[in-house]
Amino acid sequence: MAWIFGLVFLLLCLSTASKAQMPGFLSLDCGGTEKHTDSLGLLWTPDDQTTLGGTVAISTPEEARMQYRTVRYFPADDNKYCYTLQVQNRTRYLVRATFLYGNFGTSDAYPTFDISLGASYWSTIVISDENTIEVEELIFLATLPTVSVCLSNATTGQPFISTLELRQFNGSLYFTTVETQYFLSLSARINFGAESNYSVRYPDDPFDRIWESDSVRKANYLVDVAPGTEKISTTMPVDVSYGERPPEKVMQTAVVGRNGSLGYRLDLDGFPGFGWAFSYFAEIEDFHSDETRKFKLFIPGMPAISKPTVDVQENAQGRFRLYEPGYYNISLPFVFSFEFKKTNDSSMGPILNALEIYKYLQINFGSKDASIMASLVSQYVQADWAHEGGDPCLPASWSWVQCNSDPQPKIVSINLSGKNLTGDIPLELTKLTGLIDL
Ligand SMILES: *[C@@H]1O[C@H](CO)[C@@H](O)[C@H](O)[C@H]1NC(C)=O
Ligand SMILES: *[C@@H]1O[C@H](CO)[C@@H](O)[C@H](O)[C@H]1NC(C)=O
Ligand SMILES: *[C@@H]1O[C@H](CO)[C@@H](O)[C@H](O)[C@H]1NC(C)=O
Ligand SMILES: *[C@@H]1O[C@H](CO)[C@@H](O)[C@H](O)[C@H]1NC(C)=O
Ligand SMILES: *[C@@H]1O[C@H](CO)[C@@H](O)[C@H](O)[C@H]1NC(C)=O
Ligand SMILES: *[C@@H]1O[C@H](CO)[C@@H](O)[C@H](O)[C@H]1NC(C)=O
Ligand SMILES: *[C@@H]1O[C@H](CO)[C@@H](O)[C@H](O)[C@H]1NC(C)=O
Ligand SMILES: *[C@@H]1O[C@H](CO)[C@@H](O)[C@H](O)[C@H]1NC(C)=O
Ligand SMILES: *[C@@H]1O[C@H](CO)[C@@H](O)[C@H](O)[C@H]1NC(C)=O
Repeated sequence: MAWIFGLVFLLLCLSTASKAQMPGFLSLDCGGTEKHTDSLGLLWTPDDQTTLGGTVAISTPEEARMQYRTVRYFPADDNKYCYTLQVQNRTRYLVRATFLYGNFGTSDAYPTFDISLGASYWSTIVISDENTIEVEELIFLATLPTVSVCLSNATTGQPFISTLELRQFNGSLYFTTVETQYFLSLSARINFGAESNYSVRYPDDPFDRIWESDSVRKANYLVDVAPGTEKISTTMPVDVSYGERPPEKVMQTAVVGRNGSLGYRLDLDGFPGFGWAFSYFAEIEDFHSDETRKFKLFIPGMPAISKPTVDVQENAQGRFRLYEPGYYNISLPFVFSFEFKKTNDSSMGPILNALEIYKYLQINFGSKDASIMASLVSQYVQADWAHEGGDPCLPASWSWVQCNSDPQPKIVSINLSGKNLTGDIPLELTKLTGLIDL
């Protein structure tokens, strides 16, 4: 067994050392015009295969990264505007969409619009200032060779997007037994004990998750910190070659509660709801063999949560090794407080290296007619109307299609006039059981 871990470790080292583009990474620079490699070594490609919408440079100078200097924007109408991305079936991915408004438009209203993955609602993007980058992240299991990311439902301003990224996971990372019914939408991913405000991401994280520093100060983010909280760090290697594989750099820093407890309060975007919540621990502090570190989690109002005692060194079977206890399905509030408290028989206070919380988002399986329509449009690859992408009905219907309002909608009418169709009525249309108008 040991040699297998050794081999995996070696592969990880090789792949992070070579700065080549990782397999399974896609980084789209929306509105961009040329390929470029950023300072992290990520290769950005322009989204110029899309002809929808318009492209424009933003007008605020604060952001220097090239992928943020432009956006692609879309009309504020009832249609949806989709990117269709190639994926590998039965593989888990992280998809990240970012939005830097940068005053690109002539509209004086900040945009508000929805983003969806396939037919499933993902999030509402609410822009509230021109220099803040809004980031949405989701983990999903691909069940088809493509996935679509769509913008729709503009309530103010024009929908737009700055970047769209796909990162492929290996093995069983983020496996859940409900992954064919729920996406995981990121709410918090925190690197405790961080030495600067910078996030840790690629190449330190081979999957390019963004681990936010606990030094960053923002409203309702890691406040009410317990007294006696201290940052510690190590340069010793930490074994992170299993579980969710948090990056070693994240596990080499931690906070410890010198006065017996570690506690924080933060707002959880997307909650209240059911979520996936894991803590990442590794014993990285030197202490004498007659000292012990044992602690328990307390969440106000949830006595049932407080049961298991954590002894990192024992649970991880050694020092400098990952231990990641967590909850696959836990009900969490929007204003979330938690505390790790040392047990009475422990000589030392708790430790915490990192934390991740995702909300479960129910997958919407979309229109019953989706596969028939996919087969229809595949015969008209030259035509613009065949490239609207995503589900024919959800979250908004294709511009030439009308759907009923069932949870899994059916197509009730199709308008192909002016679409330059000649010859026979396509066979597919006879399979649309809800069609009443042609
Ligand atoms: C994708 O994988 C699923 C689950 O194994 C399978 O049912 C489906 O047919 C596959 N789809 C394609 C297009 O390969
Ligand atoms: C569009 O957004 C509004 C407000 O954000 C929301 O109430 C409405 O349900 C959304 N419509 C659709 C079709 O998603
Ligand atoms: C994931 O697996 C693929 C194929 O086995 C490998 O090429 C790649 O380097 C792995 N990536 C990471 C981050 O381990
Ligand atoms: C981190 O950012 C905060 C504002 O969010 C600032 O007050 C603080 O000085 C910064 N700290 C470091 C170490 O850069
Ligand atoms: C830690 O606890 C000790 C003893 O209870 C107390 O004197 C000290 O002020 C506390 N430190 C902090 C930072 O609260
Ligand atoms: C989580 O648990 C609740 C209550 O038991 C249940 O209703 C819900 O379906 C579960 N969600 C997931 C994603 O497993
Ligand atoms: C420590 O002991 C006290 C008194 O027996 C008890 O109330 C408290 O819950 C214990 N604390 C922990 C963390 O076990
Ligand atoms: C059908 O589409 C054509 C052109 O795309 C448009 O002129 C016409 O008004 C549409 N008809 C209906 C009933 O929506
Ligand atoms: C309609 O199709 C014909 C033959 O395929 C083509 O020559 C013509 O340019 C098309 N017209 C439009 C408006 O797309």
